[in-house]
Amino acid sequence: MPAYRQPFIASSEITPEQCFVKRRSFLSMAAGGLIAAGSGLAATAAPLTAQQSTYKVDEELTPEKDVTGYNNYYEFGTGKGDPAANSASFKPSPWTIKVDGLVGKPKEFGLEELLAFPMEERVYRMRCVEAWSMVIPWVGFPLKALLDKVEPLGSAKYVAFETIVRPEEMPGQSGFFQPLPWPYREGLRLDEANHPLAILALGVYGNTLPNQNGAPVRLVVPWKYGFKGIKSIVRISLTETPPPSTWNLSAPSEYGFYANVNPAVDHPRWSQASENRIGGGGFFGSNRRPTLPFNGYADEVAGLYSGMDLKANF
Ligand code: MTE
Repeated sequence: MPAYRQPFIASSEITPEQCFVKRRSFLSMAAGGLIAAGSGLAATAAPLTAQQSTYKVDEELTPEKDVTGYNNYYEFGTGKGDPAANSASFKPSPWTIKVDGLVGKPKEFGLEELLAFPMEERVYRMRCVEAWSMVIPWVGFPLKALLDKVEPLGSAKYVAFETIVRPEEMPGQSGFFQPLPWPYREGLRLDEANHPLAILALGVYGNTLPNQNGAPVRLVVPWKYGFKGIKSIVRISLTETPPPSTWNLSAPSEYGFYANVNPAVDHPRWSQASENRIGGGGFFGSNRRPTLPFNGYADEVAGLYSGMDLKANF
């Protein structure tokens, strides 16, 4: 188990100064631990403090067993339990994300550098296009912080993301039945990517991400359907034109590029007006509630789409 997979320290009560000190000691320990993991030595404990964010939905958290046991990650199979069952041998460390395209300073970020961004715990409402939802305590940092480091050019209008291709560790990429074209791809408009709600998550529930949730780093965009939240990212490219996105390529009439949660625009095969909140009341118990425009984040993000026809740009 790589060293960075150690619990984050709950941080609600500690001061910024304490955070800073603990962060510094974590970073040196994490760097040592990563080297140790790479050389096959036993990993040392590597706690990471995450500041509590003001971005915090005041709703009951989805139980951790559901967050880590009921997943979509087709690289590991199409069943909800497949990602947890089939991802044990996936290696999330060492890792790099290559950031390139229309940027002044293209750069590869190692896992240690990603972990060095100031982490926040953010409790987000998450809505899957399949009409189920969860409330998840992610740990991550704003995507904008990473994009700023590479200095996007004025011509950059979109951000493209790619998941790793590693058929030897991902049965969904190597079997007879391959449900999607690989790599899994996603994209955002640059102003969406720069919105403070859009984060790169490295942890959940106080721990580094389990493989089934997209270790070591995945996108979380809470006002959009869950399929925008691409997992195990290895490349981010700034582009002038809209990048391809996997579900849009696979079924363009069903999955749009924007994929903003919108109860007024149904999926062609089912209603998006309501959702089943997973957990509490049983796995498939009647825990149905109305779906909110932009998944409840309209006050923050609706302005990104002013003047746009959201039925045409679904
Ligand atoms: N990323 C990759 N690479 N492959 C996938 O199949 N599934 C998406 C998204 N990211 C997917 C992916 C879908 S459909 C959803 S709903 C979310 O991941 C689920 O994230 P979770 O399992 O952490 O809840």
